[in-house]
Amino acid sequence: MKYDEIIKGLPVKDKPIILGIETSCDETAVAITRGGREVLADEIISSAVEHSKFGGVVPEIASRAHTEAIYTATVNALEKAGLKMSDIDAVAITKGAGLLGALLVGVSFAKALAFSYNIPLVPVSHIRGHIAAAYLADKDLQPPFITILASGGHTAIVKVKNYYDLEILGQTVDDAVGEAFDKVARVLGLKYPGGPNVENVAKTGQNTIKLPKMLGNNYAGSEFDFSYSGLKTAVINYVHGETQKGNTVSVADVACSFQHSAIDVLVDKAFNAIYLTGYKTLTVSGGVGANGYLRETLINRAEKENIKLILPEKRHCTDNAAMICAEGYLQYKAKNFSDLKLNAQAVVEL
Ligand code: KG4
Ligand code: ZN
Repeated sequence: MKYDEIIKGLPVKDKPIILGIETSCDETAVAITRGGREVLADEIISSAVEHSKFGGVVPEIASRAHTEAIYTATVNALEKAGLKMSDIDAVAITKGAGLLGALLVGVSFAKALAFSYNIPLVPVSHIRGHIAAAYLADKDLQPPFITILASGGHTAIVKVKNYYDLEILGQTVDDAVGEAFDKVARVLGLKYPGGPNVENVAKTGQNTIKLPKMLGNNYAGSEFDFSYSGLKTAVINYVHGETQKGNTVSVADVACSFQHSAIDVLVDKAFNAIYLTGYKTLTVSGGVGANGYLRETLINRAEKENIKLILPEKRHCTDNAAMICAEGYLQYKAKNFSDLKLNAQAVVEL
């Protein structure tokens, strides 16, 4: 029998064991979950150190690193879970968005596994994966909820109406917030990955530098939209201006002031979305969700406003494969399987 026919004949299991693979950027990640929310293994092999020499991710280096690491990450995950490949019910794979060459390594490897073991191949959107990380943090979490999607590629306020129906209320019109963190890090002479380094330096600084407000009153788009390019440029201009005047720039104060401007607006808009929808639950998703100042601000505000706040573990905010398993579980239940012609996509809608 052909692969497609075999898959069609398989029953959909209640608590499937899913092996998830994520290779969209510089982390080769493989995880295994049971029933979508119970994490049995969660492996990440990062090539970030290799990229830091160049100040950002070098796509070809990322692809080569995935090729070298993917077998080891898979074997390690199976070993940690105490399972064999023959115990796996489905393979969930990030189809996009991300670096095409990097994605193709994971997609090809996932196809080979699905073909060899006659198990369903479940394509997953990286963005939905980030959002699904919240299901790992709270085993009882159910939609509806609002999520702040804040990563290196995306910045949006998303209304999660049910497990499958997601609506973007507003998003960035230019740079993503994580991208702004990385660029500000670079101008401050901090290493890649910039986000965590800006956060660390900001701890010893003060919010004393005046930076422009985002999207003024005349902006015609959604009240939930963002723009980070003006903020980034203001920081760059400030640093260059002070340096030209011969003044010493306080890296800590710039980092702290930038962090306040970049994060406070995320929090304000998320709570505006909570008021608009009447939803009672808020989550964060994406790498910037690991930011300590964002998490602290959200905890305080949620407590004041009596909103249930779900903060995924920091390692489940940045790229990982457990989140791909969590979203893969939902797609598995809906029987959204792919044939073996699956290709990677640099861009996905949501
Ligand atoms: O979700 P992610 O790992 O990859 C994408 O899908 O983009 O997000 C990576 C982004 C990077 O821009 C990184 O600088 C940022 O998340 N990031 C942070 C922190 N940790 C990661 N930004 C601010 N504070 C952090 N602690
Ligand atoms: Zn990501």
